[in-house]
Amino acid sequence: MTDAILTVFYPPKPLPDGVVIRPADWRADEPAIAAVRRSVFIEEQRVPEDMEWETGDRECDWFVALAGGVVVAVARLTPAGRIGRMAVLPGWRGRGLGSALLGLAVECGRRRGLGRLELHAQCHALGFYERLGFVADGPEFAEADIPHRHMFMNLKEE
Ligand SMILES: CC(C)(COP(=O)(O)OP(=O)(O)OC[C@H]1O[C@@H](n2cnc3c(N)ncnc32)[C@H](O)[C@@H]1OP(=O)(O)O)[C@@H](O)C(=O)NCCC(=O)NCCS
Repeated sequence: MTDAILTVFYPPKPLPDGVVIRPADWRADEPAIAAVRRSVFIEEQRVPEDMEWETGDRECDWFVALAGGVVVAVARLTPAGRIGRMAVLPGWRGRGLGSALLGLAVECGRRRGLGRLELHAQCHALGFYERLGFVADGPEFAEADIPHRHMFMNLKEE
């Protein structure tokens, strides 16, 4: 089941030349990850600073996309299996980086033996997550004044 999901949904398209996707080294990559988060969430989407930074950040798995050695996109997987902080700098959107990072986070969750992955999707991005096999459930709700839906992906048969 899991392998079937990943075969169908990941990777959806080749990455641009020179783009590398890899797990982050939190200690080394944290400043570059923070710069992308600040640009996309705090400055572009007006998320309050005190909602963006979390003390648990360092316990999470992080994933980065680099272009020419510079971090241009990030994603996070918490120990409990919540994917989040999906952010691609504007000039790099629509070129497969977000999908590749999401696929890597799903693969990481599968290898950790998690049964289920969850996320809070901004409503405009529902289609992005659905392409990789996530399913929306429950009502719309607001986080940082942005409409969201809960989504999940089962990694094991229930
Ligand atoms: C949402 C986001 C992470 C997608 O990353 P991306 O690298 O642009 O996405 P990809 O190129 O891998 O895939 C885009 C695909 O998802 C689909 N999609 C659906 N909703 C989308 C959205 N809001 N933004 C981008 N793509 C979206 C596109 O149609 C596209 O499909 P196609 O390749 O068949 O044309 C990126 O646009 C982003 O960082 N947005 C700002 C921050 C944000 O909203 N994060 C999500 C928080 S839940």
